[in-house]
Amino acid sequence: MAAKWTPDGWRSKPAKQLPNYPDKAALADVEARLRVSPPLVFAGEARRLKSKLAEVSAGRAFLLQGGDCAESFAEFHPDNIRDTFRVLLQMAVVLTFGAACPVVKVGRMAGQFAKPRSSDTETVDGVELPSYRGDMVNAMEFEAAGRVPDPERMMRVFSQSAATLNLLRAFAQGGYADLHQVHRWNLGFVARSPQGERYQAMADRLSETLEFMAACGLTSATAPQIRETDLFTSHEALLLPYEEALTRVDSTSGDWYDVSAHMLWIGDRTRQPDGAHVEFLRGVKNPIGLKCGPTLDPDELLRLIDILNPENEPGRLTLIARMGADKVEEHLPPLIRKVMREGRAVVWSSDPMHGNTMKSSSGYKTRPFDQVLREVQGFFAVHQAEGSHAGGIHLELTGQDVTECIGGAQAITDEGLRDRYHTHCDPRLNASQALELAFLIAESLKRDRDNAAVEAAVAAS
Ligand code: PEP
Ligand code: CO
Repeated sequence: MAAKWTPDGWRSKPAKQLPNYPDKAALADVEARLRVSPPLVFAGEARRLKSKLAEVSAGRAFLLQGGDCAESFAEFHPDNIRDTFRVLLQMAVVLTFGAACPVVKVGRMAGQFAKPRSSDTETVDGVELPSYRGDMVNAMEFEAAGRVPDPERMMRVFSQSAATLNLLRAFAQGGYADLHQVHRWNLGFVARSPQGERYQAMADRLSETLEFMAACGLTSATAPQIRETDLFTSHEALLLPYEEALTRVDSTSGDWYDVSAHMLWIGDRTRQPDGAHVEFLRGVKNPIGLKCGPTLDPDELLRLIDILNPENEPGRLTLIARMGADKVEEHLPPLIRKVMREGRAVVWSSDPMHGNTMKSSSGYKTRPFDQVLREVQGFFAVHQAEGSHAGGIHLELTGQDVTECIGGAQAITDEGLRDRYHTHCDPRLNASQALELAFLIAESLKRDRDNAAVEAAVAAS
């Protein structure tokens, strides 16, 4: 029997990556204000996402999760929200076509403001200051006063998240997400991309499909599925005082929900089975994610699954593998085998970003597009060989035309990184790199389906 759970139970467990607030009274005051703030999401929405993720775990849907590495106060602008939303929709349409199944869309948006760091301090020119931990905690500028953790930043995150979510809901339901419109944006991308001809055939088939559907009477006017969409929100549940203050009992079910986002995940650095972050997330009923890096062994994974999803509920737990392009084929199969042998229902998703970060010769933190693609391909190949469902991808991306990851059809070079390098933490795919990746994944999903159909036909003959 698991020990009784309370929202503050994490406080008696060892906690990594939490800031030490010097002003405890100010922290308590912020927590009290957050506790009476309205929820950002409803428990019913989190349950709906869970049932969609259950479809992913059963192999009948695909998960697309993406957005900023770290949202920031400086980049808060309606155009940025719109552009990231738009690129997620564009990718989702392409992936829906490739996978021939529904795509569940989850943004790293409206709450993704706290960052784990590999070191507690940063030294520049002999001066040592606390590391930047995201705008939710302290300031990015290398300056002593700004690096002191300030709880008041949580209130600003709450209000920026509320405003972001409000706009996302309006875009999703208000006509901006119309499938025909999204397809027109994709045609624009294909026309502009240096590799456009490669994607033309798929774009043409999508155009034909939409025309055929319209001829059958399925248009924006007649079918809400064409006019509207769902975009759920997610972030790393890192800053536990914030998450605890936004955790409430849902009056419908009597269960606890963290109402700061639909889905929360545990980072690779804070997934200790007896640690504070695992303790906190085991008790909320939201769908949750667990980052799985190369140091996670199969027995520890099973222990974590036992803690986080003791009832083996499909859709509850998404395992987000972030191994690195060179490690995925070695480290992922033992985890998949363990999960399958033990009969655990999980969503498997691939984060091809965090295992492929490097320092470029010009000194920027970057990720080579080819390596990102190679990790996704390795992830798909491993799942195919193991007979399990490669359920989704998890990306750091932005709708802006930044230059943070090298490569892709635009061929961003090491020297080119400095042109528009804006990220507050890790390098993100820009809009065209993200779409290119979606087209390449869709191609391979489609190829797998075609091969499976041929095999089934041969077996039946
Ligand atoms: C992240 O998703 O931004 C992150 C820090 O990932 P990980 O925990 O996998 O390193
Ligand atoms: Co990151």
